[in-house]
Amino acid sequence: MNNQFTRRHFIQSAAASSAALAWLSARTGPNVFAADAAKPAILGGKPAHTGGWPKWPEWRQEWEAQILDVLRSGRWCRAGGGGQVPEFEAAWAKLLGAKRALGTASGTTALITSLYVAGVDAGDEVICSPYTFSASYNAILIQKALPVFADTDPETLTMCPKSIESRITERTKAILPVHIYGMPCYMDEINAIAKKHKLAVVEDACQAWLAEYKGRKCGTLGDLGCFSFQNSKHIPSGEGGAVTGMSDELLDRCHSFHNCGRSVGSFKGHGCFARGTNYRMQHFQAVILLQQIEKLVKETAHRQANADYLIAGLNQIGGLVPVRLPENSRAVWHLFPMRYDAAQFNGLSRGKFMQALGKEGVPSSGGYGEQYNDGMLDEAINSTGYKRLWGADRLKAYRESFKDLKGNAQVCATTVAIGQNMLLADRSAMDQILDAIRKIKAHSAVLAKKA
Ligand SMILES: Cc1ncc(COP(=O)(O)O)c(C=O)c1O
Repeated sequence: MNNQFTRRHFIQSAAASSAALAWLSARTGPNVFAADAAKPAILGGKPAHTGGWPKWPEWRQEWEAQILDVLRSGRWCRAGGGGQVPEFEAAWAKLLGAKRALGTASGTTALITSLYVAGVDAGDEVICSPYTFSASYNAILIQKALPVFADTDPETLTMCPKSIESRITERTKAILPVHIYGMPCYMDEINAIAKKHKLAVVEDACQAWLAEYKGRKCGTLGDLGCFSFQNSKHIPSGEGGAVTGMSDELLDRCHSFHNCGRSVGSFKGHGCFARGTNYRMQHFQAVILLQQIEKLVKETAHRQANADYLIAGLNQIGGLVPVRLPENSRAVWHLFPMRYDAAQFNGLSRGKFMQALGKEGVPSSGGYGEQYNDGMLDEAINSTGYKRLWGADRLKAYRESFKDLKGNAQVCATTVAIGQNMLLADRSAMDQILDAIRKIKAHSAVLAKKA
């Protein structure tokens, strides 16, 4: 009964859509009963993709010997000098075209180190992208500074440069652009604003390993860049991070801060200890990272080629709009986001679309939500410290300003994203993703009415 119902609706909706019919005959040929072949899995058809997706992270047996070498050496901490951490730092800097790199315990600690060295202090403000993992906000809050959100450009999902200047106050110290999902921000515009207002630029490149902007790698475009090597990342070591930059002086200060405030290179501290903490990377982390550098380069090219293919396919289908990237830039796709236009799917909600896509064997997520409404920032601004540092009027206006993040709200409501590991599959799997979307679109009128 249910099958008959759905099939009847399928035939009605397919007949109503000449685009869908053209696709059906191209995909199935005249001798196949197109309605059965193209029925979405959620309506009882065959899933477009079976067999799962590449697992992440991966390990290789040939890596084990070097990890055992570290274990047996008894030299596990970098503080004594030498070993795999400085080796990785040199390799990472070379790969990025950075003057220096500093290994850290995580991406969060890389951000905290960079903001500290950039001079962000209690009572300062940092212009930040709202569309990011909570660590970008938290790294600012840890300094007892205020993350002031620029709006997100719905076409790029990154910080809209036009929304920055109106948010600058006499307390603003730095801008924290986030190359989210590995998509470069509009750095020329951001750097120009920073220069005009004498602000530091700390790039959150925690998802942007090898992403490129105008011939340079993300993480080398501002004053300091920050990377994460946490387990889900394209080059994972369980936990881990790095600060990169083009200035020896800044990197010496970062090194000192992350090494309990010891003197480093040009940074002499006070002859003894300066302010600092312990955010050091371990040799165990560094050896795993060194082993994955070539793999990262190869896999990045693979993801990029598959993403290019998907973009071309999506542009033909319509309704799932690929993001716009800055001219002459290259994303690395930690997630591959698309902007879902429900109007082109007969009003089918994003949630229902994603559910149907999941039934096709294509898992997806809606990306980040409006996290500034989730309580974390309220907790901060209601704390004694924040009340002491800012007047009640400023904190009230700050809280109300979240309503102005219209571009970001739109992005949070319309993004559909697939994971980086899916881009590591072969080309036929990309065709299956596109097939799944076409099927759902062809049946969207029926699906929209389905409970
Ligand atoms: C955009 C962004 N910033 C910062 C971080 C923090 O990195 P970590 O988890 O290594 O501390 C992450 C990690 O997920 C991230 O995605």
